Amino acid sequence: MKRQGLLFLFITGEQGLSFYLYLFLSLVSCTFILLPYLFTISSSSHLYSFGVQNEGLVGNIDAKSPLCSTISNGRIWCDRSHFRSDICCLKGDIRTHSSSASIFLYSSKNSNGFINYVSSMVYDGEDQDDELQHERIKPYTRKWETSVMNTVDELDLISKRSKSGVHHPCDVVHNVPAVIFSTGGYTGNVYHDFNDGIMPLYITSQHFNRKVVFMILDYHNWWVIKYGDILSHLSDHPIIDFIGDDRTHCFTEAIAGLRIHDELTVDSLLLGSNKNIVDFRNLLDRAYWPRIKSLIQEGERDKVQYQVRKPKLVILSRNGSRAIINENMVVKTSEEIGFQVHVLKPERTTELAKIYESLNSSDVVVGVHGAALTHFLFMQPGSVLIQIIPLGTDWAAETYYGEPARKLGLKYIGYKIKGRESSLFDEYDKDDPVLRNPSSLTKKGWEYTKKIYLEDQTLRLDLARFRKRLVRAYGYVTGIHPSHCNFHLGNITQM
Ligand SMILES: *[C@@H]1O[C@H](CO)[C@@H](O)[C@H](O)[C@H]1NC(C)=O
Ligand SMILES: *[C@@H]1O[C@H](CO)[C@@H](O)[C@H](O)[C@H]1NC(C)=O
Ligand SMILES: *[C@@H]1O[C@H](CO)[C@@H](O)[C@H](O)[C@H]1NC(C)=O
Repeated sequence: MKRQGLLFLFITGEQGLSFYLYLFLSLVSCTFILLPYLFTISSSSHLYSFGVQNEGLVGNIDAKSPLCSTISNGRIWCDRSHFRSDICCLKGDIRTHSSSASIFLYSSKNSNGFINYVSSMVYDGEDQDDELQHERIKPYTRKWETSVMNTVDELDLISKRSKSGVHHPCDVVHNVPAVIFSTGGYTGNVYHDFNDGIMPLYITSQHFNRKVVFMILDYHNWWVIKYGDILSHLSDHPIIDFIGDDRTHCFTEAIAGLRIHDELTVDSLLLGSNKNIVDFRNLLDRAYWPRIKSLIQEGERDKVQYQVRKPKLVILSRNGSRAIINENMVVKTSEEIGFQVHVLKPERTTELAKIYESLNSSDVVVGVHGAALTHFLFMQPGSVLIQIIPLGTDWAAETYYGEPARKLGLKYIGYKIKGRESSLFDEYDKDDPVLRNPSSLTKKGWEYTKKIYLEDQTLRLDLARFRKRLVRAYGYVTGIHPSHCNFHLGNITQM
């Protein structure tokens, strides 16, 4: 709906004029049909109920207030109650020690009764002479996945009596808090980068208003560069490689670990503020604007010139597994319906600002279930995401992208393929459970889903069938409801 006006403005030339007329007539005749359509769209996202396979990966339910706000000086406090992540807060005289991957908290002896109590419990001789409390944490948000957690650096949080601080002088004194997290594990896959890293980082640190220092375990320079635009909107301070920087950094407040809400989302209830996923997206928009502005100035002038403004459809293209074999036909069909089509193949090295620019200016995005769909975060609320759902990926498609996309306010269309649209159709007998009952296999575990359905499947879309979704999307973004308006683009020039 939102771009209806643009369609009128940008159409020029003879063909354009008849297009204009046609659209005008269509819109007039559609007005009454469109009104109820509008209302059902805005309410539909609330009606959605969660699928069968919810594994109970709920986020940090009682994590409302900023973590450290209630903790007294000289304390380490850890919240290990959540399924996805642990998080610890330290307050007081905090000093880092990179070579032992430790953070020390030096407490004054009689600051409160608790410390005295702990010290009498822990105290056992010369070695740990003055260790009061010792916590270990892996600051990564996939706590329930033992295998990947085994690859993540562990941090020791140790509180000691104040006198030992003398031997541990500060090299850098910070007057803002630290947030310490890992960019190890699955980092490098764009879904994991956002889901396990960037969004939890936003959730954990946004209330600091950029007055925060990020310290990273399992540090990767490429990560800091790739996500630099976003990171600089979360923190005003240089990012520190915890292990690689051997200076002693001193703080009065530090958080180790990140909070996470749910798949690719920000839940304002859990955040305890009025910020939500749209605010996160707005931050992305601010983060990418300077770069996109300079790209525009660098000479992509034609982009801003007035031109025939057809709704823009972006195909997030894959090759290899889950590729659409007849993608060129999808392009052709989309163009016939009236879209201008862009095929985008995001790769690890593709500059995110460019992907952002492409998706932020799109009306419809089409993609097969997979990590690249994480880029739905770059789409504007109100635009349309069509996820093509290969066999055996129903649950993952809904959980990882379908539901989060609706939460962002996208119009989400899931296109569940039929058996004959899958390459598995040629490989398995018609009666094989792989085709007939994928959930009987995916129930057995992620490994089955991955091996059979994710890594070994390509798609050949039934265009007659898929076209209906494209037409629906076209109707949604142009405000023309084709089924009610008898709208056939192919006949425009005959008007
Ligand atoms: C995204 O699109 C909106 C609406 O067209 C525009 O106002 C905004 O500046 C765009 N953002 C960026 C970063 O280009
Ligand atoms: C996918 O495309 C990339 C680059 O375009 C290429 O390097 C890679 O070999 C392709 N993979 C397959 C399976 O075709
Ligand atoms: C054009 O309109 C005619 C009827 O006026 C119809 O039979 C034909 O199928 C239409 N063509 C297309 C491409 O929609």
